[in-house]
Amino acid sequence: MQPLGKLRLGVNIDHVATVRNARGSAYPDPVRAAQLAEEAGADGITAHLREDRRHISDEDIARLAETLTVPLNFEMAATEEMQAIALRHRPHAVCLVPEKREERTTEGGLEVAREENKLAHFIAPLADAGCRVSIFIAADRRQIEAAARIGAAVVELHTGAYCDFHAEGKSEERDAELERMREMASFAHSLGLEVHAGHGLTYDTVQPVAAFPEVMELNIGHFLIGEAIFLGLKPAIARMRELMDEARS
Ligand code: PXP
Repeated sequence: MQPLGKLRLGVNIDHVATVRNARGSAYPDPVRAAQLAEEAGADGITAHLREDRRHISDEDIARLAETLTVPLNFEMAATEEMQAIALRHRPHAVCLVPEKREERTTEGGLEVAREENKLAHFIAPLADAGCRVSIFIAADRRQIEAAARIGAAVVELHTGAYCDFHAEGKSEERDAELERMREMASFAHSLGLEVHAGHGLTYDTVQPVAAFPEVMELNIGHFLIGEAIFLGLKPAIARMRELMDEARS
């Protein structure tokens, strides 16, 4: 199968805010990082306003919503507080993620199948407000079917397990996870869902995922912000873009 279109890169800028917040200073500014990311070829900016505000702040979201010229993908937990913030700013996309206060990062995908009714009601006003609703889930048939039933426009497949297996040198498990994601990307597409992927992707792990023809967008943050320390933000993003385009061609 030919790729469905150009693969978009969404740059997640959360960890620029993590560095800023380590000192309680005004810098480095995630909005400035977003502007540089745009110049480096990012097709969108992703930011996660966590309930504990450990990195991105409410003001960051307001400034991003005001100043970005590329789409904003607003990641949030399915809470009333976050829904109100999303409805105030009406970002291009809202990506629902599970959130636990004690976790270091978003550890698993959202449990859609068990929360179907609740989530269907939760996303309806967001979709009515013009936001593309995306659900961050594990590559699991049940979850994908549930995401389609509740009326989500997009599913984002969680690539964290694949990346962890790669980092741990567990190549059999990594390849099995990759295969599962490949099949589930195709299955989600067959149900009419747009397919995105992300979490933990690096220069070493991005290409096999970028090669899935149904995947339309990758959201990448932590590795890029880390790599920016060595290369600078724009070259770090440009290299990721290059690898994605190479995998796609
Ligand atoms: N996609 C989603 C839904 C996420 O929650 C995150 C992390 O905030 C990412 C992508 C990016 O992950 P990473 O920072 O590991 O690249």
